[in-house]
Amino acid sequence: MRTLTVNLGARSYPIYLGRELLAQAGEFIQRAGCGEKVGIVTHPKLAELYLPILEESLKRTGFRVVSVIIPEGEEHKNFASLSLIYDRLIEERFDRGSCVVALGGGVVGDLAGFAAATFLRGVPYVQVPTTLLAQVDSSVGGKTGVNHRAGKNLIGAFYQPRLVIIDVEALRTLPPREFVAGLAEVIKYGVIADPKLFALLEQKLDRLLGLDRELLVDVIATSCAIKAQVVERDEQEEDYRSVLNFGHTVGHALEALTGYGKFLHGEAVAVGMVQAAAISSRQGVCDETSQRRISELVQNAGLPTEIPSGIEPRELIQAMEVDKKSLGGKIKFVLCRGIGATQFVWFSAEEIVAQLAGE
Ligand code: GLY
Repeated sequence: MRTLTVNLGARSYPIYLGRELLAQAGEFIQRAGCGEKVGIVTHPKLAELYLPILEESLKRTGFRVVSVIIPEGEEHKNFASLSLIYDRLIEERFDRGSCVVALGGGVVGDLAGFAAATFLRGVPYVQVPTTLLAQVDSSVGGKTGVNHRAGKNLIGAFYQPRLVIIDVEALRTLPPREFVAGLAEVIKYGVIADPKLFALLEQKLDRLLGLDRELLVDVIATSCAIKAQVVERDEQEEDYRSVLNFGHTVGHALEALTGYGKFLHGEAVAVGMVQAAAISSRQGVCDETSQRRISELVQNAGLPTEIPSGIEPRELIQAMEVDKKSLGGKIKFVLCRGIGATQFVWFSAEEIVAQLAGE
């Protein structure tokens, strides 16, 4: 097992990463100082696959366990699911020492985290991410929230977990398309911060796609370490944390425009990264070889690289403007300076679209 730490003073917490850690979750959660009651939030498929192991481990350690099953899918990251969680915690008389455990991907993690952030003005919570995307990104860093009909993640809070438990065995049951979508965020870490990680992905992509456990642990640990460093430097996204949005400006717009149905988040980010690399090259910030390597790695991973032909770049403008990261009409756009470094520029949505069209 590997242990990493997210160093945030009094809000610091460990990330445990390895194989078959779910069965030890009870001891880890006990060590994190959670009280007598634990509420596990998950969705039906995961409840079938992993809930028995997690519940058994928690009960063995002496916890009283309740489980809240919410429907699967981004469309359920909403107030209705949040109410289900609050209702159950109230029914079961959870107190401020009780703990919420998020067993699932980004949707479950964001929802359970936001419930924990707000219930009784804050109770401890633990992230047990089961998708690659959640393991390398959303479970670390304390972003929690729900969607509003006007946009994704419009309601939320920064609220750090007490502990993150990453069991790579959970990836065995992840649909291959979702695994590949998660790889987009791993590629992102290589582009923004780590040329060695990027080269490793280029060399060992097949082994990674074959779920080589040792390689997975290495790659996830490197990704989490990069994420932790960014979060330690700028926990509340006042400035530097936006570096994690490389590929996300166009990616989010694409997701919004296609109604969150066509692309998985990582797939939209993949398109966004390739387009951001092209814009970086047009701006004279990224060399051609790096741009080509980014595009090739994304493609070789089985991810999309292009905005679908039915979508006019201009149609993306409105979707970009409602993104909460725009300020005074300008959007903080992340360019890549080759592989391993970045640069921020402020663009209007129109300027981004002009760049996308190569104007
Ligand atoms: N997923 C981007 C962030 O945590 O800031």
